[in-house]
Amino acid sequence: MSETKTPLSPAALSRRSLLKAGLSAGTLAGTAVAARAAGDPLITEVQDWNRYLGDGVQARPYGTPSPYEAHVVRRDVEWLTAATESSVNFTPLHELDGIITPNGLCFERHHAGIADVDPAAHRLMINGLVDTPLVFTMEDLKRFPRENRLYFLECAANSGMEWRGSQLNGCQYTHGMVHCVMYTGVSLKLLLEEAGVKTSAKWVMPEGADASAMTRSIPLEKALDDCLVAFKMNGEALRPEQGYPLRLVVPGWEGNMWVKWLRRIEVGDEPWHQREETSKYTDLLANGKARRFTWVMDPKSVITSPSPQAPITHGKGPLVISGLAWSGNGRISRVDVSIDGGRNWTTARLDGPSLSKALHRFYLDIAWDGSPLLLQSRAMDEHGFYQPTKNELRAARGENSIYHNNGIQTWHVKADGTVENVEVS
Ligand code: MTE
Ligand code: CO
Repeated sequence: MSETKTPLSPAALSRRSLLKAGLSAGTLAGTAVAARAAGDPLITEVQDWNRYLGDGVQARPYGTPSPYEAHVVRRDVEWLTAATESSVNFTPLHELDGIITPNGLCFERHHAGIADVDPAAHRLMINGLVDTPLVFTMEDLKRFPRENRLYFLECAANSGMEWRGSQLNGCQYTHGMVHCVMYTGVSLKLLLEEAGVKTSAKWVMPEGADASAMTRSIPLEKALDDCLVAFKMNGEALRPEQGYPLRLVVPGWEGNMWVKWLRRIEVGDEPWHQREETSKYTDLLANGKARRFTWVMDPKSVITSPSPQAPITHGKGPLVISGLAWSGNGRISRVDVSIDGGRNWTTARLDGPSLSKALHRFYLDIAWDGSPLLLQSRAMDEHGFYQPTKNELRAARGENSIYHNNGIQTWHVKADGTVENVEVS
């Protein structure tokens, strides 16, 4: 639990004066849409695609997006890391809608590059404080009862660069270390039961088959709760980047624990104090002490459009403000949006499924009068935890942190529709 999780009752929020005036989107009538119809050559002339046969079936045995969407790709920040093998790239959140991340666009975070694992040669071992140490092949795992669940994965370092002030110009870079896919796999509980966990057991340690041999300590309680050993994402095999052929799913907890290319799970009676839970993934507070084992990803949200990479190009009038919200504690119950830097808030419309520990999509449809905006969003989860301002966050955790930045993001929309990353706390 973090110090910044101050429960704020919905009643307290509703007492605040909510800015309602000027926020109804109205209809599109009278805008360019109606005026455009008369004499438009795109309507009166026959286009090539209307005249000639297109490609037949099997022209693309594995389909890819339209060439007109070629700019919708993962991107990295070259100066951020010394080598691409131990680095990160970012999900293009500003181009996506709904709550599912397409497999080819899920951000990647590797500590030793993408392991190229032959599934026929892959094994998963369960050892340590168990009655019977076990080794599973991929075939073995596919004979256990399966489950399908949709979860977000967020790297604890997401938004880490923004801790002291606004840095990177685009939600892809500030918030793009998150993705949300449907996993198919076997519950970790079932596999642990198969091995027979000894009564003295309190922790498990997943280990990756990549050259970093990623290892983290996870309390047994979580392992027996909702963790999955997954082999599919969005219906197809995991992508190599996401841990093919097997990864651990640790719902709501920091991405680092979701070990990819999962090869071993050790059961023990105390944590292992691995590199990734001592020198990394800990938060140095102002008093010199570090927070450790900060697993849960707190409620967070970001407006994905408009945003620096998705400026307003249509001028004033109806404007769709859209974004994503998520919480490692459960479901998102409410998202408020401000267009004036947090002075007034309006409750946004959540659309699509509201699933525990998954991304939620929100919209606020407004009539933009063409004046500059300071756009913010603030998420609240079903347990009443909400997103702090960045000042609240720094007051609680100091200036040294990288991980677990769930502070409120601000976008400055200018009169010409361009958007910039700024901080208003
Ligand atoms: N597992 C292994 N084996 N090796 C890694 O480098 N990186 C971790 C985690 N699991 C990592 C790993 C980190 S820090 C994160 S945020 C997630 O995987 C990223 O998952 P993704 O690449 O599917 O987005
Ligand atoms: Co990470």
